[in-house]
Amino acid sequence: MPHALITGASSGIGAALALELARRGWDVSLIARRREKLEAVAASVVEAGARAALAVADVTDRQGVRQAIASCTAQLGPVDLAIANAGGGGLTPADAFDAGEASRIMRLNFDGVAHTLECVLPEMIARGHGHVAAMASIAGLAGLPPSSVYSASKAAVQVMMQSMSAELRHRGVAVTVINPGFVRTPLTDTNDFDMPFMWEVDRAARHIVRGLERRRRVIEFPAPLSWPLRATRWLPAWMVEWLIRTVIMTRT
Ligand SMILES: NC(=O)c1ccc[n+]([C@@H]2O[C@H](COP(=O)([O-])OP(=O)(O)OC[C@H]3O[C@@H](n4cnc5c(N)ncnc54)[C@H](OP(=O)(O)O)[C@@H]3O)[C@@H](O)[C@H]2O)c1
Repeated sequence: MPHALITGASSGIGAALALELARRGWDVSLIARRREKLEAVAASVVEAGARAALAVADVTDRQGVRQAIASCTAQLGPVDLAIANAGGGGLTPADAFDAGEASRIMRLNFDGVAHTLECVLPEMIARGHGHVAAMASIAGLAGLPPSSVYSASKAAVQVMMQSMSAELRHRGVAVTVINPGFVRTPLTDTNDFDMPFMWEVDRAARHIVRGLERRRRVIEFPAPLSWPLRATRWLPAWMVEWLIRTVIMTRT
């Protein structure tokens, strides 16, 4: 069976992706910090008829990620699909802007992806076969207050993956960036603002896995959020700012 490796697999979208991939015939490696949560997800993967490996690591720890991925490949073989999903948020309002918090979010959402990719890419490139995917967000399509740094971290991931796709696709390695809108997970459970067009996590996982199986460059949903955000790129800056202030800031 092909082998998928997922970071941030202990809850939310990562856990749902693990189960969906297992149901579709993938063996799955699970990486995150909370061992007991990973063990519960691994049990569901096995129940679905697939093999599971797990390793505890903090994705901000480059060496720890390397050891975790080595342990997974020792158990399940080379990685065919790596999903760098681990990530999280944190508000960074301009009134209380804190460079330490900004750096924490970038380390988690950007460095975490980079640490994962550097471990799996050399072998995929050497084999001329493989697929890397990174979890960004529609929040990376525009700067959404008061999550300026979260938006910036996800925009950085989007641009990195776009660039890598141009380098690697013709060499047999597919590159996908995933840009979800709001999905019901422990991450969004803590939000106290309006979250339009929210998807349940199982629906999101099915949609993402279908896109990954088609080796799409971009998987983005839901359309009613992604299309208007993409359209802002064609508008003058003052109009985008006005829209953000009137449409988004009044809802948060
Ligand atoms: N839910 C949404 O609406 C939404 C929308 C767009 C994008 N996203 C993105 O989707 C991804 C998954 O989020 P989610 O909504 O599923 O949230 P979640 O349920 O909180 O899951 C986050 C996952 O990341 C792991 N994680 C967090 N920090 C980590 C670290 N330092 N090292 C290793 N693993 C770490 C967590 O596991 P441990 O705590 O066990 O380490 C957990 O498995 C994130 O990148 C998020 O930005 C979510």
